[in-house]
Amino acid sequence: MAREKVVLAYSGGLDTSVCIKWLIEEKHLDVIALVGDVGQKRQNLDFIRQKALDSGAIESLIIDMREEFARDYLTKALFANALYEGKYPLVSALSRPIIVKHLVRLAAEHKAAYIAHGCTGKGNDQVRFEVGVRSLDPDIKLIAPVREWDLTTRDSEIEWAQAHGIPVPVTKGSPYSIDDNIWGRTMECGILEDPWVEPPADVFELTIDPAKTPDVATYLTVSFKAGVPVAIDNQQMEFLDILTELNAVAGANGCGRIDMIENRLVGVKSREVYECPGALALICAHQGLEELVLERDLLRYKRTVEQDWANCVYDAYWFSPLKQALDAFIASTQPVVSGDVRLKLFKGHCSVVGRRSDYSLYDFKLATYGEQDGFDRDAAAGFIEIYGLYTEAWARQQSRLDPS
Ligand code: ARG
Repeated sequence: MAREKVVLAYSGGLDTSVCIKWLIEEKHLDVIALVGDVGQKRQNLDFIRQKALDSGAIESLIIDMREEFARDYLTKALFANALYEGKYPLVSALSRPIIVKHLVRLAAEHKAAYIAHGCTGKGNDQVRFEVGVRSLDPDIKLIAPVREWDLTTRDSEIEWAQAHGIPVPVTKGSPYSIDDNIWGRTMECGILEDPWVEPPADVFELTIDPAKTPDVATYLTVSFKAGVPVAIDNQQMEFLDILTELNAVAGANGCGRIDMIENRLVGVKSREVYECPGALALICAHQGLEELVLERDLLRYKRTVEQDWANCVYDAYWFSPLKQALDAFIASTQPVVSGDVRLKLFKGHCSVVGRRSDYSLYDFKLATYGEQDGFDRDAAAGFIEIYGLYTEAWARQQSRLDPS
């Protein structure tokens, strides 16, 4: 009888390579390995593809998801100015659903009954993979080898790998656990687990230490059309290229470092270090433009919705009905988010120093204290008279309270 198939989310690292062999030996499955290219640091993708085959996979696929990732995932995150707990731009949380989508598609194409991933049993990503898969195809069976196996230490894993003919990297791996894509880079483990210790210099790859960045500021203008970035300094570019450029320029100015204590979905507070120069610069610019073009109540309400959106995505609910409904609301606010934002990047700070738009709600005549002032001060007096009625009545009532 032919063996059943499993589609595995493969990274090329030791964990997922061991997963391939483990799925073959322990679960008696044929393994199809999928690497999603979401703009992670360029490894040799041909090498990774071959490594999966060498580890025993019957098929090994590398899918370039970068454009789709930018168009369908990062655009939405930018529309939502998405920052979990006000800080983390959801780097890993955004990449899981697109990988899930392709895993499920491949499982259907290859008539695979199983999907597997290499996440541990302690993090958020296992939840995102599994809840994501079940949201798209409730009948697929899930396997989480790393959660199941008893190779708890790195040494025992390497021993198992060597005994089973899996190529083990000769170089000593990074002391940190890293995940990265075009939206940024996440760092955990090692010395970072002590929340009192400052992240050592060797943690960072995309950003320069602000103490060592240029002594003159870098200015650049980001143009948006309906919420989507379309140009830098008047040069029309694709979102992906804009992001790549901003990662470089903002990173060179020391912008985009985040050091936080984060509340994981699985009940654990963890110390997380991120570097997301391009993502944070874009969110900063996008927020700045929204301030100019969105009506007050809409803006205030949208800012609360943004937090709910970030929570949904962090909490593995990318495909949930609430998240989709919030997408619709957020998208409805974006047609006027067109215009230019001038960013100043200097020694780890990214700030908006200029903004303009054809849809600007800023009215110079109303705002100015100069000669051209067109604001009706007489109307202000009547407005205040009525506006204060509620609190005035309340104050009178309070004064009648028995003080005893
Ligand atoms: N704490 C972040 C999150 O949950 C980063 C996770 C990084 N994942 C990883 N496998 N290293 O989104």
